[in-house]
Amino acid sequence: MTDILQISNLSKKFSSGFEALKSVNLNIAKGEIFALLGPNGAGKTTLISIICGIVTPSSGQVLVNGHDIITQYRQARTLIGLVPQEIYTDSFETVWNTVAFSRGLYGKAPNPDLIEQLLRSLSLWEKKNSKIITLSGGMKRRLMIAKALSHEPSILFLDEPTAGVDVSLRKDMWGLVRDLKNAGTTIILTTHYIEEAEEMADRIGIIRQGELMLVEKKTSLMKKLGKKELTLQLQTALPAIPASLDLPGLSLSPDHLELTYSFDANTQQLGIAGLLQRLSDLGIAFKDLHTTQSSLEDIFVGLINSETTHHEA
Ligand SMILES: Nc1ncnc2c1ncn2[C@@H]1O[C@H](COP(=O)(O)OP(=O)(O)OP(=O)(O)O)[C@@H](O)[C@H]1O
Ligand SMILES: [Mg+2]
Repeated sequence: MTDILQISNLSKKFSSGFEALKSVNLNIAKGEIFALLGPNGAGKTTLISIICGIVTPSSGQVLVNGHDIITQYRQARTLIGLVPQEIYTDSFETVWNTVAFSRGLYGKAPNPDLIEQLLRSLSLWEKKNSKIITLSGGMKRRLMIAKALSHEPSILFLDEPTAGVDVSLRKDMWGLVRDLKNAGTTIILTTHYIEEAEEMADRIGIIRQGELMLVEKKTSLMKKLGKKELTLQLQTALPAIPASLDLPGLSLSPDHLELTYSFDANTQQLGIAGLLQRLSDLGIAFKDLHTTQSSLEDIFVGLINSETTHHEA
């Protein structure tokens, strides 16, 4: 099966001479949720804008379900729904009309049931007759999602979908995205919330300064991040780690008051329970303990920082 989105050697140089995208290659499978992570100015919106036909590429090719976004613009465009980062709407139009009209723009027959279902799933049903100007920021963003889905696209682009949306509605939105995926829609989203990528994505891409630096399955990325650390504050100083407790990953602080155990949460090493049992058997008492786990955020920040150093070198 061919991928629903095929991006090859895509570059964008703005008239200012600024290179916003540098030879990006990326394929997206049908039904996938792909999260694009990257700092401000990395090129996320530029990439999405090119695919959606808002910005023209300088070189390279994009195929949407096999249709070239330039030579087969119409076929490509009907398959795409876009929720842009910047919200722009006609303030005096109602919620219902905005969504219904957008469907009409794509030449699709009216479908009030579909629009009702969309508005309900986005908690906008009560607002169906409200003018957009009266909506809150989060409601406007949800309206943009309803609008983007009104013509039943196969691929939905969400550029920072939950910026300015509160925590409980963000969770609802994640649910909606999951429902869309289950219904077969492919979803590409950009986000600054690592938690969001972790929660939803099948694959994650990290972009920086116009370069796609890493594309990986979330599960394999998370496996790499499976390192956990347990720190125990001891009641009394321990002169040395007892020979019977000699484990890889176990270390004693210079003041002999803290034991740290680094282990991989994915491979069943001794684990926390086992370690605590052994300490208890040895009569080593502790006052307090805490665990930390490296997250996607750590790898993301690490990658961005290491690359910065690399570029400056
Ligand atoms: N029309 C333009 N002319 C010149 N440079 C532009 C233009 N549009 C965007 N850029 C530059 O291209 C780079 C990438 O911008 P883009 O909006 O794609 O970033 P982004 O990853 O979406 O960032 P953010 O997380 O802030 O939304 C930025 O440095 C931006 O200033
Ligand atoms: Mg952006």
